[in-house]
Amino acid sequence: MSNRKYRKTKTQIQPFHAVIFGGDGDLAIRKIYPAICRRYLDGQLNVDFKVFAITRSDKKHANFFPTVKQFIKDSIKFQVDETKIDAFLEKMLLTVVPGDNDEGYLQLKVQLDANKDYQTLFYLSTPSNAFGPICESLKNHGLVNQLSKVVLEKPLGNSLASSQSINDSITQVFTEDQIYRIDHYLGKETVQNLMVLRFANHLFENAWNSNHVESVQITVAESLGVEERGDYYDQSGALLDMVQNHLMQLLCLIAMEPPVRMEANFVRDEKLKVIHALRLLDENTVKTHTARGQYTRGEKDGVSINSYLEDIDKFSSNTETFVAIKAFVDNWRWKGVPFFLRTGKRMPKRYSEIIINFKPVAYNVFNGNEEIPGNKLIIRLQPEERIELVQMSKLPGPGGYRYKPVALKLDFSDSFNEKFPEAYERLFIDMLRGNQTLFMRQDELEAAWIWVESITNNWKKTNQKNILYEAGTWGPGDLVMDGNEKWSKTSIYEIVSVPKQK
Ligand code: BG6
Repeated sequence: MSNRKYRKTKTQIQPFHAVIFGGDGDLAIRKIYPAICRRYLDGQLNVDFKVFAITRSDKKHANFFPTVKQFIKDSIKFQVDETKIDAFLEKMLLTVVPGDNDEGYLQLKVQLDANKDYQTLFYLSTPSNAFGPICESLKNHGLVNQLSKVVLEKPLGNSLASSQSINDSITQVFTEDQIYRIDHYLGKETVQNLMVLRFANHLFENAWNSNHVESVQITVAESLGVEERGDYYDQSGALLDMVQNHLMQLLCLIAMEPPVRMEANFVRDEKLKVIHALRLLDENTVKTHTARGQYTRGEKDGVSINSYLEDIDKFSSNTETFVAIKAFVDNWRWKGVPFFLRTGKRMPKRYSEIIINFKPVAYNVFNGNEEIPGNKLIIRLQPEERIELVQMSKLPGPGGYRYKPVALKLDFSDSFNEKFPEAYERLFIDMLRGNQTLFMRQDELEAAWIWVESITNNWKKTNQKNILYEAGTWGPGDLVMDGNEKWSKTSIYEIVSVPKQK
């Protein structure tokens, strides 16, 4: 049977301008330009286009293009003709638009007007307090039309109020269907595969609820520290930097109901319902259902690693670099099932996975006194992309029934030869095509803030402190959650292991 039946007709990519504010910033150089270039090399951008790298100051940028080229080269894992990268760089223009002066915007307008019928993506990779002023200037200088879109990088504010106020200033200029709020986790192949796993397989659906699932664990461990982003990170912490967006999006994809169709608003409606159902925390539950930590000086492979305070060059800070939360989705499907969310910096390795822990079978016919461990569905997102179904198997040999958990493994790299596009590649193409499915809607974001603020406000009220953990370890140990579950220090596997229901 032909594959065509399953493929939706895709919108043809039209000629475009990509105008990247924060164009000499870390994210643009490391992620955005390499992603656009890889799509170009892959032949997907076979239309006329220009990329404007917007900088605020006209300081010397002598190294800009060589640096961009190097990052592009480093990001490509296959053989490539270097002249093609040069051809891409020819399409890039470094353009100075000082924030407080009209001249830069007027000159940009002249350049964009040279191709008036092109769609323009205004990609704001700047701190979010600049979003409103940039949008206003774009409007005042006549740069926005019906073909324009605006792309917003996280974080969108640092509270419900600031996120609403930023949004208000953006919606003075752009309509919701022109706004693309990025959460790059949604662009990851393995994250999108969660939807296919759930909605294209009959096998799991009947068991995907509180009758069969004991708990869900979502873990995103990072080996990196705060790198060059100390100023930003110290205002955010792990909760705002990772949970408020990436981990909550993963939770939504696991917990949501099937959307009517795989279309932006149907998918976003379902995610929103999950966020609305998240149980808010209060002064008491914030103590028992959340834990926060900060890394101290440590060691990895014999090399000493700075503490968080050394990394941000401060004597004190109460910002958390690790957070663990026991969350509940209070709805028909998930009543009583804990969702354990956990993320931290400076762990021994980069490691993200989701585990669905199924309940054990009702009775052990082999040995009535012993509980047989439940099945687990392990969805490994990174560094490898893999699905494992852990099920009990008989140990070979005579003499009765002995059994142990054995994993059925599906490694994506074994099954699919194709190279996976990076998150930003997929998201960039979706923006050009006008597909908003993998972007957040404002109401989703606001609902997420309400839940997150039930944690931040109660952390403040109860003066909840960080538990210190050594850099290069798996985070705070000996942590008692809910008076029952001990989160061991030894390995993240232990930390995420099936919490015993007492
Ligand atoms: C970003 C956070 O959104 O995601 C970073 O701001 C974090 O602090 C990064 O390191 C993790 O992304 P990935 O794709 O490397 O898991």
